Amino acid sequence: MLTLENIHTYYDRIHALKGISLTVEQGEIVTLIGSNGAGKTTTLNTISGILTPKEGAVYLEGERIDRLPAHSITRKGVCQSPEGRKIFARLTVQENLEMGAFNRNDTDGIASDYARVLTLFPRLRERLKQLGGTLSGGEQQMLAMGRAMMARPRILLLDEPSMGLAPILVEAIFRIILEINSQGTTILLVEQNAQAALQVAHRGYVMETGTIRLSGDAKTLLKDPQVVEAYLGF
Ligand SMILES: Nc1ncnc2c1ncn2[C@@H]1O[C@H](COP(=O)(O)OP(=O)(O)O)[C@@H](O)[C@H]1O
Ligand SMILES: [Mg+2]
Repeated sequence: MLTLENIHTYYDRIHALKGISLTVEQGEIVTLIGSNGAGKTTTLNTISGILTPKEGAVYLEGERIDRLPAHSITRKGVCQSPEGRKIFARLTVQENLEMGAFNRNDTDGIASDYARVLTLFPRLRERLKQLGGTLSGGEQQMLAMGRAMMARPRILLLDEPSMGLAPILVEAIFRIILEINSQGTTILLVEQNAQAALQVAHRGYVMETGTIRLSGDAKTLLKDPQVVEAYLGF
């Protein structure tokens, strides 16, 4: 479904991605793990068109998308739930969710996705009229994910959904990620919580300073001595 081929992305002279290649197949959860500064967010931003690679190509179902503006890439079904849950603080929960569907005009489809999001996140249903900025960290994360789902993505890009959350909420978020995937959405999951990410993913890539260091089946990576030593911390 998604292919990155030898991607090089820069911030002015800083060479942030140094030849990233990866694939995500339809129906998969693929995780991208690695320490702070490895280039995970830069990779997602390059896929979603916020950044343009200097070299290399991104393909969505065989079609090259890396020269398209971000809004065209969104319209093709690539949706990102950004790091640090960038929700609209001054809009209500309901308005935030409606914003997620701003590209669509299939009223029935929007209504059924709205119902689906509220079933996945009952906490949001209880807070529809509350302002986004007054939600707890975990609720804002749920809202950011729910908003991304309102675009009915073919592939959902999640940037550190568990960051800063209490353990019980981390567990809930990962359960919901599995649920979203089982309902048919392909997911590229960026995480620093390598353990939890590898437990829900089918495959994984380990990033280190702008390159892919290791890749493979998630269960195999969980047991890989280099991964255990560097990212699982025991
Ligand atoms: N806006 C920016 N301007 C300059 N350098 C940046 C910017 N954003 C990220 N970087 C640099 O690019 C590298 C990768 O960052 P990032 O993709 O955010 O890593 P990660 O998400 O894995 O923590 C880091 O060295 C970071 O300092
Ligand atoms: Mg990041």
